[in-house]
Amino acid sequence: GRVAVLMGGTGSERAVSLDSGRGVLAALRARGIDAEAVDGIPALVEALVQRRCDRVFNILHGQRGGGEDGIVQGLMDAFAVPYTGSGVLGSALSMDKIRTKQVWLSLGLPTPGYARLRKGDDVHAAARTLGLPVIVKPSQEGSSVGVSRVFDDAGLDAAVELAARYPGELLMERLVEGDELTVGVLAVGEALYALPSIQIVPRGDWYDYEAKYLSDDTEYRCPGASGEAEAEIGALALRAFAAAGCAGWGRVDFMRDRASGAFHLLEVNTAPGMTSHSLVPKAARQAGMDMEELCWRILETAL
Ligand code: DAL
Ligand code: MG
Repeated sequence: GRVAVLMGGTGSERAVSLDSGRGVLAALRARGIDAEAVDGIPALVEALVQRRCDRVFNILHGQRGGGEDGIVQGLMDAFAVPYTGSGVLGSALSMDKIRTKQVWLSLGLPTPGYARLRKGDDVHAAARTLGLPVIVKPSQEGSSVGVSRVFDDAGLDAAVELAARYPGELLMERLVEGDELTVGVLAVGEALYALPSIQIVPRGDWYDYEAKYLSDDTEYRCPGASGEAEAEIGALALRAFAAAGCAGWGRVDFMRDRASGAFHLLEVNTAPGMTSHSLVPKAARQAGMDMEELCWRILETAL
C-alpha cells in the first residue's frame, strides 16, 4: 500500500521538517516504496478520508499543529492507520520537557535540577535556588528554538522574555557544563536498540539552531563515549525512552558533566530530524545502516 510521509506543518520547525521529509521520501522511493509527501495535518486528514494511504511515516516535528505532541497520533489512531514512532502518550509526554523530567526523577533517572516558571514568577529567585548558570527554554519546542543560556543575573530577563514568546510553560534548568551527546533509539520487533552515541562539538558555544542546521563547522564524534561509558549512555537512553512511554524510534539527548563524567538526561525527541545535518542518520551510518536502510527499518516499526 501507499505510505504518506507526513512533514512540514505550521510550527516553528516547519523548514527542518520539510528538509527531513524530503530525505525520507527519497530514501523510501529508492527502496521501491510508493510514498507520497503530505504537508501538514489538514492534508493528512484529506489523505486519510480519501483512503489514499495505509501507513504514515511521521516526520512532522514539533508541537501544536506539529507532529510530536500526540494530537496527530490520536487522529491516526482514530483512522486505525499505522504510523511510525510513539503513540499518543509517549508523544504528548515527551513534548512536555518538564513532565518528562518528573517521570524520570520519579524513577531515579538522572536529569538536571529545574524550575517550572509561570507568568509572574520570580525568575531571579528561581535562578538563585538552582544556581547559575542556567538554561531557559520553552517547555514544548524543539531545535533549540527560544532557548538561552544564562551565566549572570543580568541576562535572565531577556532569556525569559524570549522563551515566553512560545506557547506553554517555561523550563529553567541547571546548565550542566560539559559535552552534548545524543543517542538514537530504534525498535526491532519487540526489542529496543540504542544506536552508537554521538558527541556534538559545535564551533560556537553550544549547539543552537544555527549549529544544528546552517553551519557546516559542527563536529560530530561517533561513538561519543568509549567502553563502559558508551554502554552506560545506551542503556540510559533505552530506560529513559521506555519510561516516557515511547515506541518505534526516537532520539534521547544528554549532557555529560565535564568534571564527573556523569550523564544527565535532557529530553526525548519522538520525531527527530532526518536532514542531511541530522544526528540519527549519522549514528545509523556508524552502525552500518545507510539512509535507505534506516528509513526502511523505521517504516517497519509502523506495522
Ligand atoms: N527537533 C529536531 C527536529 C530534532 O530533535 O532533531
Ligand atoms: Mg528536541
